[in-house]
Amino acid sequence: MRRFLFIQLIALLSVFSSLSAQDGGMWIPSLIKQLNIDDMQDMGLKLSADDLYSVNNSSVKDAIVHFGGGCTAEVISSEGLLLTNHHCGYGQIQAHSTLENNYLKDGFWASSRRGELKNPGLDATFIIRIDDVTNKVFEGLTNDMDEGSRKAKISQNIHLINSSIEKEDFQDVKVKAFFNGNQYFAFITETFMDVRLVGAPPSMIGKFGSDTDNWVWPRHTGDFSMFRIYASKDNKPAEYSEDNVPYRPKHFLPISLDGVNEGDFTMVYGFPGRTEEYLPSVAIKQIVEVINPARIEIRDKALKIVDKEMRADATIKMQYASKYASIANYWKKWIGENKGLKASHAIEKREKYEEVFMEKVNANPEYIDKYSELMSDFDKYYAQFEKYNLANNYFGEIVYRNVEILKFSTMLHSVVKKYEDIDESGREAFVADVKPRVIDYTKGYFKNYNSKVDEKVFESLLEEYMTGMDPEFIPTYLTELVASYNNDYSKLAKEVFEDSNLTNIEDFNKLAEKSPSSALEKLKADPAYKIAVSMLDAYDIFIKDPYVELNTKIKKLQRTYMEAQVEVFKDKKFYPDANSTLRVTWGIVNGYEPKDGVYYSPKTYLGGIMEKYQPGDYEFDVPEKLRTLYDEKDFGVYGEDGKMPVCFIATNHTTGGNSGSPALDANGNLIGLNFDRVWEGTMSDINYDANICRNIMVDIRYILFIVDKYGGARYLIDEMKLVRPKAQTVVEGE
Ligand code: ARG
Ligand code: GLU
Repeated sequence: MRRFLFIQLIALLSVFSSLSAQDGGMWIPSLIKQLNIDDMQDMGLKLSADDLYSVNNSSVKDAIVHFGGGCTAEVISSEGLLLTNHHCGYGQIQAHSTLENNYLKDGFWASSRRGELKNPGLDATFIIRIDDVTNKVFEGLTNDMDEGSRKAKISQNIHLINSSIEKEDFQDVKVKAFFNGNQYFAFITETFMDVRLVGAPPSMIGKFGSDTDNWVWPRHTGDFSMFRIYASKDNKPAEYSEDNVPYRPKHFLPISLDGVNEGDFTMVYGFPGRTEEYLPSVAIKQIVEVINPARIEIRDKALKIVDKEMRADATIKMQYASKYASIANYWKKWIGENKGLKASHAIEKREKYEEVFMEKVNANPEYIDKYSELMSDFDKYYAQFEKYNLANNYFGEIVYRNVEILKFSTMLHSVVKKYEDIDESGREAFVADVKPRVIDYTKGYFKNYNSKVDEKVFESLLEEYMTGMDPEFIPTYLTELVASYNNDYSKLAKEVFEDSNLTNIEDFNKLAEKSPSSALEKLKADPAYKIAVSMLDAYDIFIKDPYVELNTKIKKLQRTYMEAQVEVFKDKKFYPDANSTLRVTWGIVNGYEPKDGVYYSPKTYLGGIMEKYQPGDYEFDVPEKLRTLYDEKDFGVYGEDGKMPVCFIATNHTTGGNSGSPALDANGNLIGLNFDRVWEGTMSDINYDANICRNIMVDIRYILFIVDKYGGARYLIDEMKLVRPKAQTVVEGE
């Protein structure tokens, strides 16, 4: 007993010391051997660097794909079976759903290979090799080059690399910038285009808790779906064909039934999208004080309106559910981000860091020349940038995002501009080519459009635009229009929507059927279109150029600052910001204290779903079969001490794009599926803090339980490799 306690104590101590030593990080797989393997093994990893990434032998990387360009997925059988999130496969599940076969609502399990459903446009990309090509990219660059010529030279060099790098014909290459443009890597990839839908739980499981629980711990979402990669007979990428066969991967992930405990080592392997970990304090301050509040306020207004309409009308609910979820996702993230940045004193900490940085710079004559002006330059340019940055966000959020009629108008406007730019003789062919595509687009657009909802959003956000936007950026046309209505936005909105031809498909088709010249004339007189175009023009005249110019200056400073940090803090290991390339992050299963007196433990169970259960509610309903399985405690081999685990959290440093990433144990077995972060820790995109930042994963045992016991798709389990590493066994026929 004594001895046991002692061992536990040692384990706990090492957990805490490694936790405090953890700065987060999303590391490049090909550099693990040289940079990280010791740290990882100290923390508990049992694999070698070559097990994680190898060019000549199969390694864990060969089981990971970029899924549809935005999410991550992993291969979990020798026959190309893929696991990703429900919210990553959502579009495909929705596309295959009809009123009779509503896979979103009821779930879907292909009963045989023939029943697996094709998804045009969906692809899965493997990383074959990662090469450092920095020297080649920088060839011919000189210190006195201006940013424009520098950029041109770099793209010329990248072009050369693309055409000369060693690769097979069926492989692709992509060169990406790291460390704000201080380093470049080439990725040799293989992209499979035949990716079929295999299974998905009903939304009541896959989206349980919906927007209310989004970014929230404790969490109970079974956020998964399954696909399969198909390849040509010789196992190469191929367009969809009936003759294609299931892909035979170089590696697939064994699945551990052992589960996780607090303190366990975990790692997440995937494609994080974008982080900004090395910003100066002045930039964080601008985000916290100016940018986030503005975009939160704009979305807040849109969401309140859409939510009210959705609750009152089932059709609107269907039309807007997905749009609502996407607006709400980052709205909620930014609120959490601001709270977290404030609570963790991120700005003050960054200021301290900069003081130390400047001390080191000033102590070294070699640095003084290069870096002494850095911080004051940042201050200067961010101060100038602020109003353009804000205006850019206002414009993006209101015109391009939340007011649908404005967004629709900008799309039409870009078509019109192209039409007017080509000379007479080419126009007929242009119309013949573009018109059917526009008509096609509008069918989908109007199917999910309600002009009453949009009118209210328009009314509210036009007022926001007029009052929140810097007056010097507002077109005279708009100022006069609003004045002519005596600031009565409701009346203005009503009349614009009454007179516009862009509020329903019938009116729009009537317009589109006209000859190009009369359609154009009518469109240019359309009140909604006119408003959108006046905003676009004002953007082009007043905002675009200074925005780009200052942004270029700031980017250059950031590139120099990044280089300087690496140079000045010689002992510190730096990881590059996320840029949608393959990365590894690791951490430990760990609860957290979101606020004084509250501690969250790191695991949730099916019992928690029953606590949240609200019959008939669109977010918290629970399907009957799941309730029965719960009542009968029918958890099979997937349960743990009579309970069914659902989700868990750990200190892995993840971001958007890591959705669907595998959570692996110390031996590289699959233990969970990443899908979210905790709200208090969404600031990790700017300021990772191991005390509070946690990623959220579905426990793999819950996924297997749903596939097997709920979905009755045992045959899928049979093609997986289940292991119990603690007992060192492969599970057979359990
Ligand atoms: N927050 C997660 C992510 O950033 C999940 C988003 C999808 N779910 C939702 N309820 N909107 O992608
Ligand atoms: N839900 C996010 C995604 O779709 C991942 C979670 C996060 O941003 O951490 O990529």
